[in-house]
Amino acid sequence: MKSISEEILSRSNTYLLNNYGRLDICMVRGEGSYLWDSEGKQYIDLFVGFGAGGIAGHCAKEIVSAVQKQAEELLSHGNLFTSMPQVEVAAELVRNSFPGKVFFCHSGAEANEAALKLARKAAGDGRYKIISFENSFHGRTMGSLSLTPASFQLGFEPMLDGNVMLPYGDLEALEAAIDSETAAIILEPIQGEGGINVPSIGFMQGVRRLCDQHRLLMICDEVWTAPARTGRYFAYQHFNVTPDVLTLAKAVGGGLPLAACLISDTYADVLDPGSHGCTLGGNPLCCAAALAALRRIEDNKLCELAEEKGQRALEILRQSGSSSIAEIRGKGLMIGIKLHDAVPASEVVDACREKGLIICSAKNNVVRIAPALRIREDILESALCTLIEVLKSHEPQPA
Ligand SMILES: Cc1ncc(COP(=O)(O)O)c(C=O)c1O
Repeated sequence: MKSISEEILSRSNTYLLNNYGRLDICMVRGEGSYLWDSEGKQYIDLFVGFGAGGIAGHCAKEIVSAVQKQAEELLSHGNLFTSMPQVEVAAELVRNSFPGKVFFCHSGAEANEAALKLARKAAGDGRYKIISFENSFHGRTMGSLSLTPASFQLGFEPMLDGNVMLPYGDLEALEAAIDSETAAIILEPIQGEGGINVPSIGFMQGVRRLCDQHRLLMICDEVWTAPARTGRYFAYQHFNVTPDVLTLAKAVGGGLPLAACLISDTYADVLDPGSHGCTLGGNPLCCAAALAALRRIEDNKLCELAEEKGQRALEILRQSGSSSIAEIRGKGLMIGIKLHDAVPASEVVDACREKGLIICSAKNNVVRIAPALRIREDILESALCTLIEVLKSHEPQPA
């Protein structure tokens, strides 16, 4: 007779599309920074579902009870109506960023699609080109994919017209690339999938200046970086600039699918009735989860904690002295460890998982950690010990 795990895995092979390179592991329970699989193995999760459980971890009590309460009252109502949870989430996001208005949807790709449509309509004079950057990641829909590097586009060409991809951080190239057809610049204020790349303040401020000079929308994709992950509510706040548009997903929903496109007051009337939409976007159930999660940020001082715990993690990793490490970078609890070429990041990730630790790799041979912001310090330290043990056991040997 098959075990429960074998049964689930064989049915997953039969029924689930094979587009993820899924592992033969079936998860059954989560609590805080822990996950358990169907074999009863416990993991420390330093990646919380690609960031989705980023604020409070798995199944935080206050989020679960908010969802239970809301589920008994109203699941969805369609967007001809509104409800308190969506208004409160929008107000919370605006209160922590800049005066503006929010469009809700479910995924980061969709939030970026909204921003792209906004950019074209806001230009109002036929300008349509969007500038994005190498090593970025903006999603898998045709519009967001058009802004994402070519390696993700293979087999899906042609992309949208008019996308220009430039080296991240190169202000001169940016200035030279802007022409009379450019409508917007989209960028992650810290690149996630691209290997945790932190730009200079000068670059971010230069982008803002060029956007002002040429009437371009500055769109910050904070799907990975917000809220609070990098030690500020939004990562753009490290650079003393304010974008025109912010896109959010992952952690903002407290573990449920919610995404948002936050548009500054200057452009908030561009997407007028009928111009854009999302049937279940901002449904009260996901918004109730989001609100419970977002309220934790101030109550638990999560920005400050992300900064402190991030500093401590950097210290521990640096002190390890492992020769597997080429460079450590990041802000707050968004940390990337660039490994030496002889130490493949994927092998380190696999070896950690064997030892009950979940981390992830990123482009350019980087391993990433992005734990729940409320992770207990002793759990974080024990996880880092495991990671360091694995890094040491993979150290390149002298020839
Ligand atoms: C910066 C960034 N933007 C957009 C996305 C796409 O988000 P989603 O998978 O929710 O569509 C991702 C996904 O990892 C991301 O990292």
